[in-house]
Amino acid sequence: MTKELGVGIIGCGNISTTYFSLSPLFKGLKVLACADINLQAAKARAEEYGVVAQTIEELLANDEIDVVVNLTIPDAHYPVSKAILEAGKHVYSEKPLVLTLEQGEELRRIAKDKKLSVGCAPDTFLGGAHQLARKYVDEGGIGRITSGACYVMGPGMEMWHPNPDFFFLPGGGPILDMGPYYIANLINLIGPVKRVGAMTSMASETRTISSQPRSGETIPVKTPTTIQALLEFVSGATVTLTASWDVWSHRHANMELYGTEGSLYVPDPNFFGGVVEASGRDKNIQPLAAWDHPFGIFNQESPQGPRANYRTAGLADMVAALIDGRDARCSLDRTLHGVDVMTSILKAGQEGRFIELTTTCTQPAALGIEEAQALLK
Ligand SMILES: NC(=O)c1ccc[n+]([C@@H]2O[C@H](COP(=O)([O-])OP(=O)(O)OC[C@H]3O[C@@H](n4cnc5c(N)ncnc54)[C@H](O)[C@@H]3O)[C@@H](O)[C@H]2O)c1
Repeated sequence: MTKELGVGIIGCGNISTTYFSLSPLFKGLKVLACADINLQAAKARAEEYGVVAQTIEELLANDEIDVVVNLTIPDAHYPVSKAILEAGKHVYSEKPLVLTLEQGEELRRIAKDKKLSVGCAPDTFLGGAHQLARKYVDEGGIGRITSGACYVMGPGMEMWHPNPDFFFLPGGGPILDMGPYYIANLINLIGPVKRVGAMTSMASETRTISSQPRSGETIPVKTPTTIQALLEFVSGATVTLTASWDVWSHRHANMELYGTEGSLYVPDPNFFGGVVEASGRDKNIQPLAAWDHPFGIFNQESPQGPRANYRTAGLADMVAALIDGRDARCSLDRTLHGVDVMTSILKAGQEGRFIELTTTCTQPAALGIEEAQALLK
């Protein structure tokens, strides 16, 4: 890979610092400019990270930029990604890709017409832990996966995010916000989903912000905050997924998969690292031998201790895929299938029936040690 693509970022809020600070680890891309509906936010990030602050129009007309990363709020993902494609640039979006299947199909149509690529987070399934789990499954470590259980539960987002409004509006909620990590990893480990069922509820119609600077302010809840879903995969596996922001504490593991020969314990799919455990028919649960996967190496301190964070790996993989003419792991097909799963779960909850999915996708290629190393400088 010889070429380097110019990258622009639209949306200079909370998560943008992760993209600015981690993108220099990767080959093939260089962040050159940033923009935001709030120009001050763009100017602040530009100064912090030594790039140019532009208006959205200027960034979209900037000839040096080949790929634009969309880090706006979920409701703005579709119009901003559409404008990026219409300006003739590839898109890599934060999750969720879009809020409806129709929006995703429209992006697919424009991208196809203009011969452009659309990619989307999450990329945490490319992490060392999740790729170790993938290798173990591919090698038949637990036989054929027949079922599983996933839990992503907590009290909410209004205690840490400075502007938590979007989490409680359509397009937010725990399934569209946290679900992408779980669904992307289930697609990584099991493949596409066939149909879903769900029950949904909300514990309260308002939330009170306790983070700064808006502590004490009340915000409305317009989307379910507890979702109990059932997923049937094309492979025949059935998995339960509970996503909630109405739970103060619990003792469920993030992701357990049960196979004909044993069980697999997968760490939190919101992160790249963690310990993967498994048992055979002897029920003896043991950690899998650690491997030297580059996206499992600790590179950050966090309040919970050292951790591996390689967000932007999905963008680097998309850029490499563009240059090498291959399929990107965080592709439109897979993330739009994820949107189909999540929006169908919400619809199943609303209508009280199972929903057959209308989209499908392939499993992404595994990302072994050498392939991951090739993405890094
Ligand atoms: N914060 C996190 O830890 C985190 C982690 C992973 C993914 N994400 C995802 O990243 C996205 C952004 O989250 P965030 O926490 O950074 O949000 P944020 O509210 O902190 O930042 C969003 C930024 O987008 C800008 N914006 C909004 N609409 C815009 C538009 N139409 N055009 C241009 N700019 C616009 C806002 O002014 C703001 O600066 C969300 O989709 C979220 O799900 C966030």
